[in-house]
Amino acid sequence: MTSEYPVVALVAAAGSGSRLGGDVPKALRELAGVPLVAHSVARLAAGGVERVVVIVADGLQQDFEQALAAAPIPWRLVVGGTERQHSVRRGLAAIEESGSAGVVLVHDAARPMVPPAVVAEVIAAVRAGHTAVVPALPVVDSIRRIRGEASEVVDRAPLRAVQTPQGFAYATLLAAHDHVARSGLEVTDDAACCEAIGEAVHVVPGSRLAMKVTEPTDMVIAEALLAAFPDQILTAHRT
Ligand code: CTP
Ligand code: MG
Repeated sequence: MTSEYPVVALVAAAGSGSRLGGDVPKALRELAGVPLVAHSVARLAAGGVERVVVIVADGLQQDFEQALAAAPIPWRLVVGGTERQHSVRRGLAAIEESGSAGVVLVHDAARPMVPPAVVAEVIAAVRAGHTAVVPALPVVDSIRRIRGEASEVVDRAPLRAVQTPQGFAYATLLAAHDHVARSGLEVTDDAACCEAIGEAVHVVPGSRLAMKVTEPTDMVIAEALLAAFPDQILTAHRT
């Protein structure tokens, strides 16, 4: 079922990047002269994605067309919604309009450095039969749960920080987003949508390079990582 259809990625790029600041939306901010969204699409393509639907804020279509002019795979733009989950749902509707898909990845444009090896591993896990797949990393900080004025330590050993791209069997992701939209649930990622309909979420190793650009310091770190690892063809992080 998953091999006769193309591997499609939805790239969520409709946010404003309020925590990052600046005068252009985050996905259009440049890293080494290339917009974050273009970095993301190039990494997805190198990992095996065959076409992308980029979800953007209304009014910015021309800017994104320019940003994606040199993209190595076919892309189309779709206007997003107020929350990330609404944006992804609109992207899914666009896939439906243009046929179907086998494997669907959902990626944050704000993770421009994701190694193609991680993308490929997510795709492979979906092809192997996992209907919902996330790349994730062990948590390195000590974690405390706040209870009013008090706090207590949390055992971090079983915890994982989840990244993108997350991968799904197309039918599963559609059903999951339909359920979430109908029930009014608020979720932070697409794997959580799938969990809400009882799907098991399979975890594969993520990478420090798949960091999310959220605040100004993250741009500095991303620039440094790009300079240190220019080819990006790196293996997944396995600790
Ligand atoms: N996103 C989206 N549609 C929204 C909100 C977010 O497509 N309504 C996308 C963002 O463009 C980003 C990804 O989801 O690539 C992850 O969101 P986040 O890092 O929170 O980005 P922003 O919402 O843009 O940033 P902020 O929360 O700081 O405003
Ligand atoms: Mg946000």
